[in-house]
Amino acid sequence: QWDEAEAREIVRRHEGREGRLLPILHDVQASFGCIPDPAIPFLAQAMNVTRAEVHGVVSFYHDFRDRPAGRHVLKICRAEACQAMEGEGLARRLLDRLGLEWGGTTPDGRVTVEPVYCLGLCASAPAAMLDGEPMARLDDGSIGEIVSEVSR
Ligand code: FES
Repeated sequence: QWDEAEAREIVRRHEGREGRLLPILHDVQASFGCIPDPAIPFLAQAMNVTRAEVHGVVSFYHDFRDRPAGRHVLKICRAEACQAMEGEGLARRLLDRLGLEWGGTTPDGRVTVEPVYCLGLCASAPAAMLDGEPMARLDDGSIGEIVSEVSR
């Protein structure tokens, strides 16, 4: 739920700081669970930059989302070492079982699946992270486990 007074307070906290757009966006996402649409024109005006600039920063960083994430967040590595270990095929099967595309959230808000580019687990590829917990050496068995885990 967008709350302009709260957003104003966030901007005020960063008053006078260099390069404050990024920390402000992080705080907005922490408060609202995402960067809601009205935040873009609001921040553009509050910081005297164009909407395109704010939008550009939001879309450049994979961490920002325009809708709140699901109850579970699954990050699947799409970088080289994981790709070399069939990570893409596994990810595709998992996305299909959940009926999702990259970055999508199930309609019931159960889970969001996001790409990441290296989790530092290359030696145990393919890798993913479920709710902040690293998962390594994924195979079709782990896909089943993940699907049942996020169904709770
Ligand atoms: Fe996937 Fe490094 S490439 S964890």
